[in-house]
Amino acid sequence: MGCLQSIACKPKSFRDGVAVLQALLRVPPVAANETWTVGWIQACNHMEFYNTYGSKGMSSWEIPDLRNRSIQAISDSDGVNYPWYGNTTETYTVVGPTRSDCKFTVSMNDNFKPSITWGVPVSDSNVPELTGVRRDQSFTTWLVAINGATAETVVLQTVRWRMRLNIRVDPEKPLGQRAVLLEPVDQEQPQILSENGSIPPNALVKPNANDAQMLMWRPLEGDPMVVIPPRY
Ligand SMILES: *[C@@H]1O[C@H](CO)[C@@H](O)[C@H](O)[C@H]1NC(C)=O
Ligand SMILES: *[C@@H]1O[C@H](CO)[C@@H](O)[C@H](O)[C@H]1NC(C)=O
Ligand SMILES: *[C@@H]1O[C@H](CO)[C@@H](O)[C@H](O)[C@H]1NC(C)=O
Ligand SMILES: *[C@@H]1O[C@H](CO)[C@@H](O)[C@H](O)[C@H]1NC(C)=O
Repeated sequence: MGCLQSIACKPKSFRDGVAVLQALLRVPPVAANETWTVGWIQACNHMEFYNTYGSKGMSSWEIPDLRNRSIQAISDSDGVNYPWYGNTTETYTVVGPTRSDCKFTVSMNDNFKPSITWGVPVSDSNVPELTGVRRDQSFTTWLVAINGATAETVVLQTVRWRMRLNIRVDPEKPLGQRAVLLEPVDQEQPQILSENGSIPPNALVKPNANDAQMLMWRPLEGDPMVVIPPRY
């Protein structure tokens, strides 16, 4: 599989909250009994996601092992198709024997649709007190070929990207007029790294970021408390 090529790997764009990655591949003839799955694997390396409620404190989505740096990445798989990000457009499987080169595209997209409460999450009050939302998340996405029989893993490309967001909210204003997007208005675009490196083990296995994350309430005064525990 030394000559498996990624002809074009385009970290296409990151706009309007949707990140798109796409690669065109050419796989040389594959012997009988050989199966190669080529596709995208993504991991989250860093997560800050803070919702501020005036002078009361903030709620924060956290992945404890990532936060204290006991792991450097956590899988961002769909939670079913580990280690892959998904199993529709995200992967392609070449089943040998094939006599000629096989050309195909694999693509993935990631988007963000969080729900945030207007009121302080640990109170019964529905009074809107949200004053700000800040996110800074980093991801590594690998274009990988895995041999179905031997599990031999070849990293073809490594992409890094980051999502940053800073929203100011005025809870006194009517609905629809409360939020103002502050910098950065333009996201940094995904970058192909000049070295492939190896994939950290936690990027390939359970739990994924969605199941490992927990919502904390971190008051300005007093002890932090868990609002939503991790699912895993
Ligand atoms: C495929 O593998 C099986 C089991 O390892 C073996 O018996 C068979 O001969 C192989 N076929 C080819 C075409 O290599
Ligand atoms: C990091 O946090 C996890 C989960 O709370 C804990 O099990 C682990 O011991 C912590 N590691 C370090 C180095 O603090
Ligand atoms: C993709 O994964 C789903 C589960 O999420 C499974 O039901 C389906 O069979 C899989 N499809 C393929 C092509 O592997
Ligand atoms: C990553 O690995 C693939 C496959 O070995 C190779 O073709 C590619 O050039 C490597 N990329 C970099 C930036 O080293």
